Amino acid sequence: DPPAMMLGIESSCDETACAVLDGEGRVRAEIVASQIADHAPFGGVVPEIAARAHLAALAPMVRAALAEAGIAARDLSGIAATVGPGLIGGLIVGAGFAKGMALATGAAFYAINHLEAHALTARLPGIAARAPDFPYLLLLVSGGHTALIAVEAVGRYRRLGTTLDDAAGEVFDKVAKLLGLGYPGGPALEALAAEGDPARFTLPRPLLGRAGCDFSFSGLKTAVAQIVSRLPPGSLPRGMAADIAASFQAAVVEAMADRLSHALAMMPDATCVVVAGGVASNRAIRGRLEATATAGGLTLIAPPLRLCTDNATMVAWAAIERRRAGYSSDDLAAHCRPRWP
Ligand code: KG4
Ligand code: ZN
Repeated sequence: DPPAMMLGIESSCDETACAVLDGEGRVRAEIVASQIADHAPFGGVVPEIAARAHLAALAPMVRAALAEAGIAARDLSGIAATVGPGLIGGLIVGAGFAKGMALATGAAFYAINHLEAHALTARLPGIAARAPDFPYLLLLVSGGHTALIAVEAVGRYRRLGTTLDDAAGEVFDKVAKLLGLGYPGGPALEALAAEGDPARFTLPRPLLGRAGCDFSFSGLKTAVAQIVSRLPPGSLPRGMAADIAASFQAAVVEAMADRLSHALAMMPDATCVVVAGGVASNRAIRGRLEATATAGGLTLIAPPLRLCTDNATMVAWAAIERRRAGYSSDDLAAHCRPRWP
C-alpha cells in the first residue's frame, strides 16, 4: 500500500501553515508563514488583513509542501483544515481551499478543531519518549486561549478551568505595550524581566489559593498600568521597566503554578502534564510548571516551540488521530465555527 499521506492546513489566526504527514505521523513537510510584520503596525491581529494574507500565501505554500514531501496532490488520502475556533475570514480561506482540493483529488476532508489539535500534539511520534496515555492534563496558554483541559480520549475533552478575562499571552502583550516594548510583547518582556528585580513591586496574584483552576489577569494588568501612570509621562528608565517586567512575570508564574496544582488535584488520574501555546515558551513559566508537575509525581511534556505555537502539523496529526480512533471524515458542507468550545 502507498503510505496514507495527510495534508494539514492552519489559518485560524495570524499564521498560515501547511504540513504533510505520512500515515504513521512522520512529518514529511512543514511550512509556517507568520504575518506578524503585517499586523505589527496595528499592535494586534487585524482580521481582514489576516484573511487576505492567508489567501495570498496558501496556494504556493501547499505546492511547496507537496514538493518538499516528494508527492503529488493525488497521493493524498486526507486533507485536514482547521475550521474553528478562530477568525472567520481566515478559517473560510483555509477550509475552502482544503475542501476544493479534496473535491478535486477525491481525498477525504477532515474539519479540525484548533484546540483539539493543540491538545493532541504531545502524542505526535518523537515528541515524548513514549506517547502520553489518556487521560492527561493539558495547559494551553497562548495569545487567544488560556485553559486547563482534561484530555480523556480522542474526541473527549473536559475543560477544568479557563480565564475569566484576558488570555495569558494577551496580558503579556498588553503589559509589554505599557512598558514600551514592541508587538508581540511576550518574548521581549521575558528578556527584559531577566534584568530586573522581581521583588521590587508587589503585584496581585490573581485567584491565588481560590477554589478551582480558573485564571484572571486583568487585575494584574491594571496594577501595572497604575504603576506606569504614576510616573511622569515619557520617563520610564530601563532599570525600572525591567523591575516591573520581572515583578509582573513573577506574579504570573506564581498564579499559574497555583492553578496547575489545583487542576492536578481535580484530576487524580492524570498520567502527565502537557503544555502548549506560545506562552509556554517562557522559561520562567516552564520551569515553575515543571516543578509543580514533578511535585505532583508527574512529568511535564512540552513540545518543541514550533509545535507549541500555531502550525499545521498538529492539524494533520489530529486528523490521523481521529481516523485511527474510528471517526469518519467530514462532509464538504462542514461549517466554519469562529466559536467552538
Ligand atoms: O500560540 P501563539 O504563538 O499564538 C496564538 O496566540 O495562537 O501565542 C502567541 C502569544 C503572544 O501573546 C506572545 O506574546 C506570547 O504567546 N508569548 C510569550 C512568550 N513567547 C510568546 N509570552 C510570554 N513569554 C514568552 N517568552
Ligand atoms: Zn493556537
